[in-house]
Amino acid sequence: MTYSLTKLVAVMALSSCLGAGMVHASPISTDDNRITSETFANPLFRNGADPWLEYFNGNYYLTTTTWTSELVMRKSPTIAGLADAPAHNIWTGADKSRCCNFWAFEFHPMQTADGLRWYVIYTSGVAENFDGQRNHILESEGSDPMGPYTYKGTPMPDHWNIDGSYLEYKGQLYFLWSEWHGKDQVNLIAKMSNPWTIEGEHKVITQPTYAWEKSGLNVNEGPEIIQHQGRTFLVHSASFCNTEDYSLGVVELTGTDPMDPAAWTKYDKPFFSKANGVYGPGHHGFFTSPDGSEDWLVYHGNSSPTDGCSGTRSARAQPFKWDDKGLPNFGEPMADKQPLRVPSGEFGPLKAQVEGVKYRIVNHDTDQCLITNAKGDVSVSRCDYKASTWVVDPTNDGLYRFANVAEGTFLTQENCQDSEALGVSAAPWVASRCQRWSVDASHDGWFRFANERSIQNLQATNCTTQKGAAVVTGENRVSDCTDWRIEPVSHLAIVNAHSGRVVSAQQCDVKANANVVQHEYTANACQQWQATSTSDGYYRLQSKQLTANKQAQCLVSVDGNLQLGGCEQADSEWRTEFMPNGSLRVVSRKGGSSMKVAGESYANGDNIVEDVWKNTISQQFYFREVK
Ligand code: AHR
Repeated sequence: MTYSLTKLVAVMALSSCLGAGMVHASPISTDDNRITSETFANPLFRNGADPWLEYFNGNYYLTTTTWTSELVMRKSPTIAGLADAPAHNIWTGADKSRCCNFWAFEFHPMQTADGLRWYVIYTSGVAENFDGQRNHILESEGSDPMGPYTYKGTPMPDHWNIDGSYLEYKGQLYFLWSEWHGKDQVNLIAKMSNPWTIEGEHKVITQPTYAWEKSGLNVNEGPEIIQHQGRTFLVHSASFCNTEDYSLGVVELTGTDPMDPAAWTKYDKPFFSKANGVYGPGHHGFFTSPDGSEDWLVYHGNSSPTDGCSGTRSARAQPFKWDDKGLPNFGEPMADKQPLRVPSGEFGPLKAQVEGVKYRIVNHDTDQCLITNAKGDVSVSRCDYKASTWVVDPTNDGLYRFANVAEGTFLTQENCQDSEALGVSAAPWVASRCQRWSVDASHDGWFRFANERSIQNLQATNCTTQKGAAVVTGENRVSDCTDWRIEPVSHLAIVNAHSGRVVSAQQCDVKANANVVQHEYTANACQQWQATSTSDGYYRLQSKQLTANKQAQCLVSVDGNLQLGGCEQADSEWRTEFMPNGSLRVVSRKGGSSMKVAGESYANGDNIVEDVWKNTISQQFYFREVK
C-alpha cells in the first residue's frame, strides 16, 4: 500500500462571480456582515506550545501541546476564531506506557489506496516522568482531521525519541525525529515502510554546531520540512526550549540521498529568533493561506525572556516570503497585538467540501428535503440527491453554517441587512453573518434555523405544503412550517467530547442485548452506527455489526442503561440537540434523558447510560463520519 504526503490544494477560490452566470448574488460581504475583521493579532492562542495548523476544505485546524492525556483539536473558518474555538478531544491515552505528557502533535494528509487519510504524530510517555517519551502515530478513519482515529503504533519503542515529522522525497517516505546523543540533542532520519513503521538505519542529519544552538543546552529538535521550487529545507528549533534564545535554523538537502548526513548543509545563522518582545520563537509548522497564495509560519513564543518551556508559550502565526536566493525569509516574530491581515482568501468567495457528517434537512410541512443546484437556487424536493445532503458545520459563537455536499456552497440569506429579507440561496462562502444560522431545538427532534443577520426562520415560501417550493425566511413566526428535522445520512462513530472514545458494543462479539460502553476507536463495526428515521425528528441507531445469527440490533435504553436490543422497541428511538459548542446532546425518546459516559473517565469499558441533562462534557458527543 502506498502513502504519499499530500500538499493541500487551495479550496476553489472564486473570482467575484456576480456575473450573468450566477442567479444569486453572493451576500454583500460588507464589514458589518463579516463574521470577523480583516486583521488579527498574535498570540493566536494562549498556552499553545508546538502548534500545528492546517487549512483544509473551508476550515483551519489547530493542535498544540497539552501536557495531559488528551489530543485536542480546534477548528474554525477564520484564523482569529481559533482563539476561542471549542476544544475537541479526539484521542486520549489510557495505556500506561503512553498515557501522559502529550507533546507536539502534527497531522499530515496522505493519499493512500483508501483515499486521503490524516496521520497524527505525537509524543507521549509514562505519568511519572519524561523518561518514557516516545513518538506515536494515529491514522484517521477518513478525510476529516477531527477523526475518529485508530492507534497504529510507535516507530521506536525502545528509546527516548520526540518531535516526529515526515519527509517525502522521490517517492520514499522518511521519519524525522529528535533524541539525545551524549550531551547533544540531535535530529535523525530513517526510511519508512508505512507512516508508522521505520526500517533500516537511523542517521543523524542535524546537530547543534553553532553557539546560537547551544544556549542552555545543545539542542536541535522539532525538525519540519518545507519544499519550494524543487529544493528541500529542514527547518529545526535550536537551543534549550527553556531559554529566550530558542530559535529556528535551516538545513538544506544539497545532496541526493536524504539518508546521507553529508547531503544536508546547515546554514550558519539562525533564520528566526527573538525580537519585538517575543522570546524563544520555535517549534513551528507551515501552512498555506486558503487561496494557496501565501506561505505562513505557525510557531510558539514567550512574551517574557524568563517564561521558559511550559504553558506560557503561546501559538503565533505570520506570513513569510522567499528571498532572491530561494531561501525562506521568516523575518522577525511579530510583536504581541500587532495587527496583521488574515491569510489571503479567508473571506472567499470560495466553495469547499466541508468535512463532517452528512445530513438530510427535511421540512415538516412538505416532508421534502432542502436542496440546491449549480445556480444556487434553494428549494424543498426529493431527498435522494447528493445536492440534498449538507454538513451542519459549527462555526463557533454558537452558530452553524450549512455546507452543501454536491455544490460546495453555503446556505445564505440574501440581502440579509434588509429586515424584510426573504430570499435564500446557496452561495460561495464569504465569511458573512448572512451565512450563519442558529440551530434551535423545537420539539420532538424538530429544529428551527434562524439567520444570524436577519433573525428570520428558514421556511418554505408562504409556509406552503406544495412539493418543490422555494425556500425563504419568513417573519419570525414559529410554526410547523419553520420546523425541520436533521437526519444523519453518513454512518457514524459517536465520540464522547471528554474522553474522545466512541460508543461501542462491549467486547464487539456482538451478542443479543450486549451492553454498550465507551472504547477507543478501532474501526470495528460494533463501533459504527446507522441512523434510520422513525417519526418526527427521532431515529434509530442501528449497529453495523449483526449478531451471530445475522440479526440487526439497535441502541436501546433499558432502565437507564444503554445496550443493544431489538430495533422495533419503543426505547430504541433517539433525537439530538445541537449545542453552541458544536457538540450534540443525544436524547432518549422513551426516557427523555440524555446519553452519558457513566464514570466520566477516559477508560475503555466505562458504561454508557442515560441520565438527566446537566450539560456536562461527559454528556456531550460528536457524530463523526465512518466508512
Ligand atoms: O513542548 C514540549 C517539548 O519541549 C517539545 O516536544 C520539544 O520540542 C521541546 O523540547
